[in-house]
Amino acid sequence: MTSRAASRPVGTVTRGTTNPNRLRRMDRWIAAAHGAELRRAADPVAVDLGYGAAPWTAVELLARLREKAPRTRVVGVEIEPARVAAAKPYERDGLVFRHGGFEIPVPQRPLLVRAANVLRQYDEAEVAAVWERLCARLAPADPARGSRGGLLVEGTCDEIGRRHVWVALGPEGPRTVTFATRLGSLERPSDLAERLPKALIHRNVPGEPVHSFLRDFDRAWAAAAPYASYGTRQRWIRTVRDLTADWPVVDGPSRWRQGEVTVAWGALAPRGVPQS
Ligand SMILES: C[S@@+](CC[C@H](N)C(=O)[O-])C[C@H]1O[C@@H](n2cnc3c(N)ncnc32)[C@H](O)[C@@H]1O
Repeated sequence: MTSRAASRPVGTVTRGTTNPNRLRRMDRWIAAAHGAELRRAADPVAVDLGYGAAPWTAVELLARLREKAPRTRVVGVEIEPARVAAAKPYERDGLVFRHGGFEIPVPQRPLLVRAANVLRQYDEAEVAAVWERLCARLAPADPARGSRGGLLVEGTCDEIGRRHVWVALGPEGPRTVTFATRLGSLERPSDLAERLPKALIHRNVPGEPVHSFLRDFDRAWAAAAPYASYGTRQRWIRTVRDLTADWPVVDGPSRWRQGEVTVAWGALAPRGVPQS
């Protein structure tokens, strides 16, 4: 163990609620968006930070990332020691569990830090400092090698992963916000508001960009109602296509088909927050 790991972990123990397959949408998006970076890296280390009372999400992250980048190793990091002890029997080739917190007790600078349903239980005022701390631990960009560096993916979902919203950040700061849903479970896009990450959930009020975005999303959804006769997927695709007229959507139909849309962070950032 390093001396970093021996000191007191940074953060607070929170509820350990998790579920098998809960983070599938996030895993798949990470594999698509970041698989090439992981594949190119000399030592692709990914951290599942705050994996909870059982290690399912870390086991699944390893399997999904290895489909794209077979040399990927996953380190599950948990601040509650009993949850680390419970996870140890599940260690395997490419997967270990460590006791730790936001300091991230691994010697490398990871290519990925995934924190799902972790910050939701912290105060909004703590988010910026935690993001800054975690981004500073990411592998740095290396333009000469075409690398944008590591990725922090931080967000929230419901108990069984039907509705999910996350922010992706690079070493330089926040990049994008992704909304992902099981389309069959959706009445309107603003159903996702209850799963906004901590940085945005209290900002879903008039005058804030995320509120305007969800309002426009619902309007586009209503206007696309005739497409429902071709299925909810076609309605979603049409809705997102309409949104691109006014909002900086950064992905395309192959992701929209999955019930996703990714928007530049700067368009949704709370007022008064840096838009890097
Ligand atoms: C609600 S569970 C989420 C489990 C899993 N990530 C999921 O989404 O299903 C949150 C977990 O994060 C852990 N946690 C909270 N703060 C942490 C920190 N600073 N470092 C590591 N783990 C932390 C808690 O102890 C808890 O087990």
